[in-house]
Order: sequence, then C-alpha cells, then structure tokens
Amino acid sequence: MVKISIVGTGYVGLVTGACFAEVGHQVVCVDNDQKKVAFLQGGGIPIYEPGLEELVKRNVTAGRLRFTDQIADGVAHAEVVFIAVPTPPKSDGSVDMTYVERVAREIAGAMTEYKIVVDKSTVPVKTGERVAQTIKRYNKNKCEVDVVSNPEFLREGCAVADLMQPDRVVIGVGGDRPVAKLKAIYEPFHAPIIVTDINSAELIKHACNSFLALKISYANALSVICEASGANIADVVHGMGLDKRIGRAFLNAGLGYGGSCFPKDISAFIHITQELGYDFRLLREVESINRDQAERFLKKIHDTLWIVKDKTLGVLGLAFKPNTDDMRLAPSLNIIRPLLKEGAKIKAFDPQAMEKAKEFLPDIEYCQDAYEAARNVDGLIICTEWDEFRTLDLEKLKNVMGHPTIFDGRNLYDPKLMNDLGFTYLSIGRRLSPAGQSG
Ligand code: UGA
Repeated sequence: MVKISIVGTGYVGLVTGACFAEVGHQVVCVDNDQKKVAFLQGGGIPIYEPGLEELVKRNVTAGRLRFTDQIADGVAHAEVVFIAVPTPPKSDGSVDMTYVERVAREIAGAMTEYKIVVDKSTVPVKTGERVAQTIKRYNKNKCEVDVVSNPEFLREGCAVADLMQPDRVVIGVGGDRPVAKLKAIYEPFHAPIIVTDINSAELIKHACNSFLALKISYANALSVICEASGANIADVVHGMGLDKRIGRAFLNAGLGYGGSCFPKDISAFIHITQELGYDFRLLREVESINRDQAERFLKKIHDTLWIVKDKTLGVLGLAFKPNTDDMRLAPSLNIIRPLLKEGAKIKAFDPQAMEKAKEFLPDIEYCQDAYEAARNVDGLIICTEWDEFRTLDLEKLKNVMGHPTIFDGRNLYDPKLMNDLGFTYLSIGRRLSPAGQSG
C-alpha cells in the first residue's frame, strides 16, 4: 500500500484516485474548488463516466479514498503527490501552465519531508525540469524531492477500464530513487512498466495523441477518395486494419476528432516542436484535414437540401464521442452552429450530454428521445455514434420524419438497407445514395 495524494479532481485526477484506491492504496484527492469537494464528500460525482460512481462509493466506504480542499492535508498524507490539473490551450495554441506551476509552488510550500511529486497532467516536454526548479525555489523546509513524469492514457467514456487495464505505464525519472515506489503503485495493475528519462516520458504522451489523431485524419482523407472513386471506406479500413502493423483502431472516418485532448494536444505539440526548431508540417495537415471534415459534411447537407433557412433539422448525438457527457470541442458544434447561423431550426437528442450542451447551444430544442428529435424534420443529422442509435427502429424513424433524409456523420447504418427502406441516406466515404448523391 502506498499513501498517495492527487491534486485536481477532473477526469484524470478523480478516475486515477478512485482506481488507485481500488487496488488498495490510501488516496486523498485534493481540489481547491470547495464546492466541488463538498459535492464529492456528499457522494456526488461531477462527471458522467461509466463505472466511476460505484468505484468512488466503494472506496470511500472502505476508508481508502477521501476528498479535501486543503493541499497541506494532501501533502502531509502522501508519500507520492500527483499533479493532475488542467493544462488548457492559450489562444496561440501553446499550453497554459499556470495551474501546474501554482500547484508545484503549493506542494513545495507544504512539504516537511521527502516527497515524490509526479506530473500526470499532459504537458510540454521539459516541464519536469520547470516543476523541479519551482519546487526547489519554494521549498522553504529544504526537503528532498524527486520529480517524476507519469502521463495518463485514459479515454473519456472508458476511463475506468483504461486505468484498471492499461496497455503500459510510463514512468519518467531523473534518477533511480523514486522508481521502486512508482512501481509499487502500479504493480497491482499488471501492465508493462517502462522507465525513461523525464523528457521522453513527456514526449510519449504528445506523440501518442498526435499519432492517433493522424490515424483519424488519414481515414478521413481516404473517405474523400472513396467518395470520389466509388469505393467504400468501411471496406478499405477493414482491409488496412487487419495488417497487424497498422491496426484497425482509430481509423473510423467521421466528423473529425474533438474533445478536450486531441485538438488541444495536437496544436500544443505543433507549438512545442516549433519552439524546438522543427516545423511539424505533418501535424498541421492533420489539423487541416480535421477541419475540412465538418465543411465537407455541411456541403452534403446544402447540396441535398439546397436552402436550410427556416428548415427543421434533427440531430442525434451532441457529446464529442459516445459514453460521455463532455461537450468540449464536440464536432457536433461545428455542424449545428453554422446551420443555426443560416436560420435552420435544430431539435436534438443526446443520451447524456443535453444538460452540458445547453451551455454551448442555448438556442436549440432538446428532445426526450431520438424519435422526438426526428419528428417532422426536413433532415436528420447523426453527430455521435451512441450505441442506442444503432438499434433504432428504422421503420418507425422513417414514419415520424417529415422527409426521410439522413446525414450520417458516423456511418451507423448499412447504406443498402437504408436505400431499401426508402431513406435518402448520406454518410461518409461510402456508396451512392438513391438520389444519386455521393454518400
Ligand atoms: C484521448 C486518447 O485516446 C487517450 O489515450 C488520452 O489519454 C486522452 O485523449 C487524453 O489525452 O487525456 P479522448 O479524448 O477521451 O482520449 O477520446 P478518444 O476516444 O481518443 O476520441 C477522441 C476523438 O476522436 C473523438 O471526437 C472521437 O469521436 C474521435 N475519433 C476516434 C474518430 O473520429 N475516429 C476514430 O476512429 C476514433
């Protein structure tokens, strides 16, 4: 058992804290947002993440997990203090490191003995050096400290599973002293552990997210070629993915990547590499292909409906991906906002994200279910591939729609089946729709 504190109770901090407690460590989660801490202490969970609520409850009840708004409390408790605070983007694409720096100072000020301080937030390469310098400067009791980089690889929507069964654990250290303790933390997860220098660990994180985004943009670019040539993107990526050197994951063409990680991390990485003297043109193209996907999809809507002003369009799915209520940089926003601007009326349904969506899209109608969102519309747009949309009663859907035209941004249905059912069905990188437009 290791005594751990985690500063920051966002997605990463909260899920990590709960999973560490689950395998037997003693965990204190710290946040300076007193309201949030009170909510967590009262049994509330501020985010929707499958499995998280039960995990937190179980470990709080077992006495392995608690919450505090006092960083000194967290630092006093822990042998190892994790930093898991946000690193939001600045307007120029670089990373705002204010929170990491502040927490480093606060930890330093509260230290009375040797600590291992671990950065888990996604940060630019060389941040570890900065954190170590900051702690040294504000460490009034002159305690020994080791700074470690331990990037996280969890995905929203399956964060608990990703943390409990990680593909690997990356530990970046400046020397051997903290290694045994970090290994003790991760040993119960039975994953390969790789130990590197700090800069390499930090780079691994940005390199992974950028590469995954590159795969998505590659598939999206291929989808354009498929539409132009009459090929089928589903078959193409299936054929590619069976090659073990390529792999099928993250080759789903669609409306492009969104969320709080990829868009931010790719532009941060471009910025960091520029500072290091390299123009990462490949990643600039990844971003540009991603932007084009929304444009191309909007063009399909316009080509089909001609005028959207005063038309009613239904939307299925708002969250940036399924199994989350997160709306940050959701691709749905890149579709809905321009349509609203043009005077379309939007009715939408999302299984989890509607409360959070109201902040981003105050001027649309929110519906009880998918059929309500489709009722009497001029067209139905699918923005997020929630499983429950795959199993909709398509006959019923057609009957409630005023005009059975579907713009499927996530390729949920079989174009032939949709054709046979009498839909005008347009999707991404697949065969012709009955009206002869490219699907
Ligand atoms: C991503 C990474 O997958 C995690 O490994 C990483 O830890 C995390 O960022 C982070 O840096 O914190 P996440 O943003 O939660 O996780 O979600 P993903 O499942 O990676 O999806 C990102 C976006 O790509 C979504 O908008 C999704 O719809 C899109 N996507 C994904 C595609 O368009 N096609 C695909 O084939 C896969």
